[in-house]
Amino acid sequence: MEPGIHDKPFNKNLFGDDFIWGVSAAAPQIEGAHNADGKGESIWDVFAAKKGNILNGDTPYKACDFYHRYQSDIDLIKKLNIPNFRFSISWSRILPNGTGETNQAGINFYNRIIDYCLKQGIEPWVTLYHWDLPQALEARGGWTNREVITWFTKYVDICAGQFGDRVKHWLVMNEPAVFTGAGYFFGIHAPGKTGLKNFLPAAHHAVLSMVEGARVLRASVPKAQIGTTFSCSYIEPNSGKKRDIAAANRADAFINRMFIEPAIGLGYPVTDIPALRKIARYIQPGDMDNLKFDFDFIGIQNYTREIVKYSFFTPYVNASLVKAKDRKVPLTEMGWEVYPPAIYQVIKKFNGYPQIKKILITENGAAFPDIINDGSIADADRIGYLQSNLEQVLRAKKEECRVGGYFIWTLTDNFEWAEGYRPRFGLIHVDFNTQQRIIKDSGYWYARFLSP
Ligand code: GCO
Repeated sequence: MEPGIHDKPFNKNLFGDDFIWGVSAAAPQIEGAHNADGKGESIWDVFAAKKGNILNGDTPYKACDFYHRYQSDIDLIKKLNIPNFRFSISWSRILPNGTGETNQAGINFYNRIIDYCLKQGIEPWVTLYHWDLPQALEARGGWTNREVITWFTKYVDICAGQFGDRVKHWLVMNEPAVFTGAGYFFGIHAPGKTGLKNFLPAAHHAVLSMVEGARVLRASVPKAQIGTTFSCSYIEPNSGKKRDIAAANRADAFINRMFIEPAIGLGYPVTDIPALRKIARYIQPGDMDNLKFDFDFIGIQNYTREIVKYSFFTPYVNASLVKAKDRKVPLTEMGWEVYPPAIYQVIKKFNGYPQIKKILITENGAAFPDIINDGSIADADRIGYLQSNLEQVLRAKKEECRVGGYFIWTLTDNFEWAEGYRPRFGLIHVDFNTQQRIIKDSGYWYARFLSP
């Protein structure tokens, strides 16, 4: 670490007064109440019902029961001195069939959350799409159907109209690379579709929807700060060999560039990923001129780095990841390498796009096996992870990167998609049988870090 960084106490003041601090969560991971009060089925409700899709047969049906416990959970956010709460809206609570009739009970629920946050002095940051597409739309092709652009913008318009008087910070989408890649190419996330023929149209329609959704927000919500989020990993080649370096470059284009570049008007990185040329099949006249939005901020979400090597047998990219567990490096419960400089590197990378006005780290965090001892949880590994990542964020900020905020993933242990409830990312432990919460030491650490 840079000399001098520890001369002052390591707390939020080192980052300046206007740095934004928060915690992130997502509807399908915390809410539960999957069929309460008129909510329609989401693709995750359906995907989880099928044996073998989720570890241990877990489902998101109850999760953290945030639907009923939102007040006490928001009280915990306040107790931890966290000024900003990022959560998502479940599309199928607002529109049970994805389009058509709205569900007033669902709208009321988000009104209650927003009002309670504001009452507690916590700023709500709303993600409009965190992967839980209404099943009724998936039945019509979901993200592969170009009509999704109309469905999505109508949904965004309803949310903007209902909540825009109080919500001033919006994130259009969460990690399009992951929900299209894992959901429509690898089939390991909902809706479990596979192959380029699903992935490419889903990807193109997601990017178009992201930009159109942002335009709807801009038109409807005065003074909105509008962003969207991207997953990114720092990529390094496995060796200095030319073909490993070229493989790392292709993987980087897929993982880090394929969604941000078209969203800011740069088009798809086809020269670096020849297989991506096939996306042309789904591009209609005018699309590429439309693809450009002047986002107020870009959310980047980073957890680790990936080492990439040339692989003859991997279709489309001829690149494969060298698993962290085979590299004898420190790991989280997800099997991801603990490598804090990754976050510095991705900030530098995104800072290289002059089109990006402001970068917020909208997710960073770690899952470790937590042990309850006498009613408390001494999660030193998580504290170490968070602090060393923050040191790297500070390093980037000191080098004049336009990084202006940091949100921890996540408030409470929750439903970690295909991994079910096993990985625990929370600052707060949840007993999923009793719904009892225990603030982990990392929660108290963040509270001290943020204390005025
Ligand atoms: C993500 C997701 C989160 C995950 C987290 C840990 O954006 O990838 O937003 O839902 O739970 O990243 O894997």
